[in-house]
Amino acid sequence: MSGLSDQFERYEQEALAAIAAAQSTGDLEAVRIEFLGKKKGRLRDLQRLLGRAEPEQRPLVGKQFNAVKTRVGAALEQRQQALDRPQAELTALDITLPGRQIELGRRHPITQTIDEFKDIMGRFGFSVVDGPEIEDEQHNFIALNIPSEHPARDPLDNFYLAAADTAAGGPTLLRSQTSTVQIRVMEQTKPPIRIVSLGRVYRPDTIDATHSCMFHQMEGLLIDGDVTLAQLKTVLNQFAAAYLGHDVKIRFRPSFFPFTEPSVEVDMLWGEDWLEVGGAGMVDPNVLTAVGYDPDEVTGFAFGLGIERFCMKRHEINDIRRFYENDIRFLRQF
Ligand code: DAH
Repeated sequence: MSGLSDQFERYEQEALAAIAAAQSTGDLEAVRIEFLGKKKGRLRDLQRLLGRAEPEQRPLVGKQFNAVKTRVGAALEQRQQALDRPQAELTALDITLPGRQIELGRRHPITQTIDEFKDIMGRFGFSVVDGPEIEDEQHNFIALNIPSEHPARDPLDNFYLAAADTAAGGPTLLRSQTSTVQIRVMEQTKPPIRIVSLGRVYRPDTIDATHSCMFHQMEGLLIDGDVTLAQLKTVLNQFAAAYLGHDVKIRFRPSFFPFTEPSVEVDMLWGEDWLEVGGAGMVDPNVLTAVGYDPDEVTGFAFGLGIERFCMKRHEINDIRRFYENDIRFLRQF
């Protein structure tokens, strides 16, 4: 009976070799017909031999026959799947193809603006300092001469942090203005002072084309012996001209801020209209006193400008929300 087993084995080896050698679906189909074909395939020849086996051997050789048939069928199926796989997988190995191009990122337009602002103010002799975005009431309000009944302190107009309240030993909030940094610098430095600080501020404003609940400001502070409002106006005019060109029109409008006296609002001509781009003024004596300076000896000016608005003017961007949407089609223009 071993003759039959040998034939099974030879059949299987030849079938598997032919399947492995098939390079196309067409090749494989020819192999299938040769080895598994129902009409005159080699499997049929083997099946015929089964009938000649001794009756008591039949269950055993029948089993062998079925096992061989299953294995050859499975190998054929597997090879078929390999040949069907998309060509891409093969070409991925083609080392003659050019490499994939890596797209270089770029800095966000606001970051670019911040860097340029630092550069311009650096040329005017201002150095750059940083301040925390989570602030206490002392730095965001009290030392800036903003009393507790002032509307700017309304909890609904600020982002107070609920959990931090007790842990930090008093209420804390996301700073609503960069003027906080004026206080932090004066607390730690003796006059003269000439700094700018650029960063994020947070307000629960209704979001529209010119308002966002988070935006950026550049704060400036100059403290010295005999500082004048004329100097403040010169610095701001020169700054605006350096960033936006000499045609820019800046207007100073009398206003009120608790931490400056006198105070001005800074507007920029935007088409037909004036758009507010910041506030400024002479540092209020109460602020100087709060940080331990003598208002009879030192004076100063301060300003706070909206960074987005300058950037929007420069690039003719008409909606502040574009900056925060992370739309690559917008961002790659800068
Ligand atoms: N902190 C003010 C604001 O956020 C802007 C401002 C006004 C800043 C007058 C100043 C200043 O430094 O002197 O609206």
